[in-house]
Amino acid sequence: MSSLGSIAATYFPPPASAAPAAGLSLREIAQKRGITYGTELTLPMLRFDKISEIIIHEAAMITPGVEMKWGVTEKTQGVRYYGAADTISNFAQSNKLMLRGHTALWYRNLPKWVPPLLENSSGMALLVDHVTDIVRHFKGKIVEWDVVNEVIEPNDNLPGGMRNWPPFAGGDVGYIAESFHAAANADPAALLFYNDYGFIYDPERSTSRKTAALNLIEQLKKRGVPIHGFGFQCHLRAGVSFDANGLRRFLADIAALDMRISLTELDVSDARLPRDIPVRDKAVADHAYEFLSVALEEPAVKRLLTWGITDRFTWLNTKDVRKGDGASRPLPYDEDLNRKPLWDAIARALNNAPQR
Ligand code: XIL
Repeated sequence: MSSLGSIAATYFPPPASAAPAAGLSLREIAQKRGITYGTELTLPMLRFDKISEIIIHEAAMITPGVEMKWGVTEKTQGVRYYGAADTISNFAQSNKLMLRGHTALWYRNLPKWVPPLLENSSGMALLVDHVTDIVRHFKGKIVEWDVVNEVIEPNDNLPGGMRNWPPFAGGDVGYIAESFHAAANADPAALLFYNDYGFIYDPERSTSRKTAALNLIEQLKKRGVPIHGFGFQCHLRAGVSFDANGLRRFLADIAALDMRISLTELDVSDARLPRDIPVRDKAVADHAYEFLSVALEEPAVKRLLTWGITDRFTWLNTKDVRKGDGASRPLPYDEDLNRKPLWDAIARALNNAPQR
């Protein structure tokens, strides 16, 4: 390629309307732009050969939906169980998929015995021991780890917009810092992430959430905490508008803190849409395209993961039910494992993204 040609390839995205070449998978379309496409999966999905095949075909990275959560890995205190997560890790390894760890520390999905202990002075040691053990168990197998998940909640009215959770009772983010240090010691090669939600809709609330997240990352960086990336959860809501410039600015502000960004947990709630399926699927796809075409402009965004691949397995059917009005359709493949307009929207947005 002439030097002018390579400059053009680096600086100019393809024309806005370009459809990706036919026959390519999301993995290949993303890869051409230097982006990783991946998906969440849970063990029950792998019991279906067709779903496993789709995942292997479409994804370059996977992350477990529940299998690494503390409530699964240590139901009984002192009895650690990584079997389910190991099965997923082995699936990744044998199919040459990258693995994203999710998540070492979350205030939900905890085993029953944990919360009372977090109130004690030994709570911090317990957290650090847990993070150390799980990260060490998967050492060398995980590319990115969501070390901590969902730690801000400005509505709780605590300093810095932090979530009201016993480890934060002293008003200090020390428990987050300690978790990252523990993870870095246990697997020095893994990229360590903080993952959170609620930055897209509801201007007032998302503004305070953005401020809290940026302050937290800045504080951690200042303290020399080994944090490398931000997981931006993409639980989209078709039919609700968002501030595109606000989104651009937030992603740029995160990137300016020397952070890489992974767009995590993408799914599109159709709870506010009419029942008609073609109408619904189109609105879901259009909304995702609108969001992704803005978010993927930010060069610090290196990965995009959907929270599942088929409508047959989506947490939104329990969380976001369409009140007797048919199952949710938030993912790229339908229940019968056919591609939906959302697949095309993701493909188009990836294809149009600037080169990394
Ligand atoms: C959800 C899983 O999909 C469910 O199966 C589980 O019961 C609860 O957690 N934000 C996160 C994810 O970071 O871990 C959550 O996953 C969805 C919201």
